[in-house]
Amino acid sequence: MCIFMIELKGIFQTYKGQAGPVEALRGVDLHIHPGEIFGVIGRSGAGKSSLVRVINLLNRPTAGQVIVAGRELASLGGDELRVARRDIGIIFQHFNLLSSRTVYGNVALPLEIAGMTAADIKTRVDPLLDLVGLAGLRDRYPAEISGGQKQRVGIARALANRPKVLLSDEATSALDPETTRSILGLLKQINKEFGLTVVLITHQMQVIKQVADRVAVIDAGRIVESGPVIDVFTRPQHPTTRSLIAEIVPQDLPESVLARIRTLMGAKREEPGHHAQLLRLAFAGGDSDRPLLSDVIRRFGIDLSIVHGQVDEIQGQPFGTLAVFARGAREQLSAAVAQMRAAGVHVEEVVEDVAGDSSLEVAHV
Ligand SMILES: Nc1ncnc2c1ncn2[C@@H]1O[C@H](COP(=O)(O)OP(=O)(O)O)[C@@H](O)[C@H]1O
Ligand SMILES: [Mg+2]
Repeated sequence: MCIFMIELKGIFQTYKGQAGPVEALRGVDLHIHPGEIFGVIGRSGAGKSSLVRVINLLNRPTAGQVIVAGRELASLGGDELRVARRDIGIIFQHFNLLSSRTVYGNVALPLEIAGMTAADIKTRVDPLLDLVGLAGLRDRYPAEISGGQKQRVGIARALANRPKVLLSDEATSALDPETTRSILGLLKQINKEFGLTVVLITHQMQVIKQVADRVAVIDAGRIVESGPVIDVFTRPQHPTTRSLIAEIVPQDLPESVLARIRTLMGAKREEPGHHAQLLRLAFAGGDSDRPLLSDVIRRFGIDLSIVHGQVDEIQGQPFGTLAVFARGAREQLSAAVAQMRAAGVHVEEVVEDVAGDSSLEVAHV
């Protein structure tokens, strides 16, 4: 019994490009636990599809080891590799269905290839069509069903060989937000019901936010940040992560808010003995409904006003950011920041750009 379902060790992937070698993966290490939904997010060209193709050895890595369900794939020969690959199902952005086959025929295909009898195939395919909600559409052709339904066929086909791992390469990128939610809901259901390990490759933070347990951020062929989704969302370290998160939670403050802050900061500079700071608080999890702000106001005799706020949810857990204008004696303000940090809130001071342009940059205090 191995601790990890998927282990990538020192993976490099270099392609022979027209203008010279292209290093798509440059030393990727990943450890994915059995039964988790692991997200990999990155911009276009970051190396996501190369990573997927390495996990099921559609691409042989230039260097490194790929271990899936305890087997080092690169060491396997043709037949052994074909059998090992049955542990790995995959779904794609453009579904890759055969247009000449019905819904049923598409799901049955991998089983025909594996040499199963028609009767055995039927016993396997019928429940899968029920599972993905397509029993009524079994005789339709791909051209006669919607995008979301096509992806359901893709999922049923990927599950036909009862894999341990399901790889998803941008499987919801061609779908509208509502269909995306329903497909992600289905993946989550399958993950729970069968304990299937899911690797979700995407460029959309929404997708990660909705279903992933842990996430790795890939940038120019390297994993630049990884961890539990809630940690990465509340304490993003790498600029790429910040900008991806900004697409769903704006990290920059609106101009109207900035104007108000400048006025407040300007006024405060004239008051001796008082210090004014703009703080960005990020919080996550169940503690966020505790009256932390009123606690520190009372305890340290400081003033806090919320100038901007955004609260969202990750897998049922609240998470959010607040921009708070804080005033008080310097040491009381530091004590208040320390207390908020002790309560698990991530606190950063936002300092006004010295060049005086409208952007505020975030400094770690
Ligand atoms: N077969 C190939 N030959 C040459 N270059 C490739 C090939 N496949 C991908 N690339 C290049 O490798 C890099 C990573 O591509 P890819 O893994 O498809 O990224 P993503 O899926 O994140 O968009 C890109 O620069 C891409 O142009
Ligand atoms: Mg891709």
